[in-house]
Amino acid sequence: MCGIVGYVGKRDAFPVLIDGLKRLEYRGYDSAGVAYFCNNKIKTVKVTGFIKELERELGNIEDNPKIGIAHTRWATHGEPSITNAHPHTDCTGKIAVVHNGIIENYRALRQYLTERGHKFTTDTDTEVIAHLIEDVYNGGTDMPFWKAIRGALREVEGTYGIAVLFSEEPDRIFAARHGSPLLIGAGEDEYLVASDAAAVLRYTNRVIYLDEGTLATVKADSIVISTLDAESITPKIEKISLSLNEIEKGGFPHFMLKEIFEQPQTLENAFRGRLNLEEGTARLNGLKDYFDDLKDVERLVITACGTSWHAALIGEYLIEELARVPVDVDYASEFRYRNPIIKDNEAVIVISQSGETADTLAALREAKRQGAPVFGIVNVVGSTIARETDAGVYIHAGPEIGVASTKAFTSQVMVLEEIALLLGRMHGYSMAQGVDLIKEIKRVPELVELFLKKEDEIGTIRKIAEKYYMCNNFLYLGRGINFPVALEGALKLKEISYVHAEGYPAAEMKHGPIALIDKNTPAVFIATEDPLYDKIVSNIEEIRARGGPVIAVATEGDEQIMELTDNVIYVPQAVPLVMPMITTLPMQLLAYHIAVIRGTNVDQPRNLAKSVTVE
Ligand code: M6R
Repeated sequence: MCGIVGYVGKRDAFPVLIDGLKRLEYRGYDSAGVAYFCNNKIKTVKVTGFIKELERELGNIEDNPKIGIAHTRWATHGEPSITNAHPHTDCTGKIAVVHNGIIENYRALRQYLTERGHKFTTDTDTEVIAHLIEDVYNGGTDMPFWKAIRGALREVEGTYGIAVLFSEEPDRIFAARHGSPLLIGAGEDEYLVASDAAAVLRYTNRVIYLDEGTLATVKADSIVISTLDAESITPKIEKISLSLNEIEKGGFPHFMLKEIFEQPQTLENAFRGRLNLEEGTARLNGLKDYFDDLKDVERLVITACGTSWHAALIGEYLIEELARVPVDVDYASEFRYRNPIIKDNEAVIVISQSGETADTLAALREAKRQGAPVFGIVNVVGSTIARETDAGVYIHAGPEIGVASTKAFTSQVMVLEEIALLLGRMHGYSMAQGVDLIKEIKRVPELVELFLKKEDEIGTIRKIAEKYYMCNNFLYLGRGINFPVALEGALKLKEISYVHAEGYPAAEMKHGPIALIDKNTPAVFIATEDPLYDKIVSNIEEIRARGGPVIAVATEGDEQIMELTDNVIYVPQAVPLVMPMITTLPMQLLAYHIAVIRGTNVDQPRNLAKSVTVE
């Protein structure tokens, strides 16, 4: 989604803005632009396509401003074009605005402003903000500009993170947020404004997260923050523990591959200090204040989007199995609008890598509105979802830059294992069972590492990719706890290689999807050893009988499967309850290699954004 960077301080602003935008590239964008002051007048430079283009354009400019705002746009209103790229200005060109989010009442505002003589030049919702601020400013006598911003934002419905320049106050950036993340990086006599900590990290690790409904006036040597109701707020500086290494490729050709190979480490990070072997339970201090609620909980709802929703499905399986507490999993986008039923003694878990997904955030707020305790499973520390949940557990996967979620997914599953164990021990899962499960959980990073180091298996995946990359349809089939892994495998393939793929419970295939089977439609089966193994073998036979190629992910040592399938990827033996964290790896790697052969943009697939901050 869109990205914002602003800079005010002693350095030349262009390199800082370009560096910041590059750090936000992973979020997805289609055009980019910068606004800065030249002789106290605002100038804008915009491009479609890549930030490199913008960098080239700025390289041809002789100005060396010390202040500026920049933006990467992910089109929502109006096609990707130079005209629609941010920053947008008012009629006089004295106000420039960059914006993340969506102004829902922009049509009404645009009509109102047009009737008042404002001239619009773009198709965007954002442009109304510039004109609205201008309108409010001109309507007041001796009105400070920040008050005009506040007045304008009061009229706006929707979500925004904005940075604004005003040519009569050329020493400052105004920044405000409601629903879209925005933070201020605090350096020595310099400040940055950004939608993501990655953009400020090269210059400072001290950040101020702007709260919902706040407005900041940022100068090189000072910052003033207030609510939109004019209550002043003392800036709270927090230290972020991100390092630059974590947001660079480290020798891998793509972030996605780097992140796949980080999983032994990230999985371990997700359980370090959280497993209590002596008592066979999980130690989740983040949820401590809610242990009584969890002991009495009669039903859980888990809500999320995309890959996080797939993790939720695995969580449903784990919690019901270990704790015998009923779980319902819901797409956040459905939950938020369905008037969901949440009774006393029920609780809600939201899962989000970014912690900023608009639908998940809205679901969280709906659940809170209904009085339910809401727990978060989040990766990005300090994100809006992390801050708005009552309690939660961070997955500690580190920055995930590839748009396709990989390491965050397995870490979400790991945290769900811990929550299921904790709940299980509160609801009758025995200590001995808990101890056994902890031993299996602790082996997972090692098993994942073993798999990733197996040249044979990685080579097999590459060969499978070479054999089938031309196919236009894939089926992914699994049963039980591995059914969501099939869904995740299909999603990975779709999003990065643009190949149509569907995930199904294997037995469901004969109720429709089997009609798709022909020699050009490979079926990827997750067929590891578990109580449903014989059933899945029958499903494999059904595909074979209809001439469909079969790729199986099977447990090491399973020779029978070789005879039934065209290709086998072997994964190490593990108990079924932890298997999804292992069977997911071949799914990720197969999608990755097919995408590489097809020549797609693996880390920033078309039309997608990393952090989906619009509904
Ligand atoms: O940041 P979140 O986990 O809330 O994001 C949810 C989805 O947008 C995300 O998982 C998306 O499906 C990924 N691109 C999948 O790889």
